[in-house]
Amino acid sequence: MYRFSDKDYSAIWMQCAHQGAELNVSGDYLQCPAHGSEYDNRGQITNGPADRNLRTFPVTINKNELFIDLRKI
Ligand code: FES
Repeated sequence: MYRFSDKDYSAIWMQCAHQGAELNVSGDYLQCPAHGSEYDNRGQITNGPADRNLRTFPVTINKNELFIDLRKI
């Protein structure tokens, strides 16, 4: 998860969209150790060989509780 503000978060599945390797976090971006694909902190691809974005999940906030909807997987 990344937090951009009190009401803006991103929840990202940490599995590369290329061949499924687990991603490494490097500051504001995610990098795949297998073949070098990179994604930004909203799961958008910025560098291949992957050719699609990461899976992301809706995040909602109700008072002080944060909910991640995993049903979209
Ligand atoms: S599995 Fe991530 S770039 Fe190939």
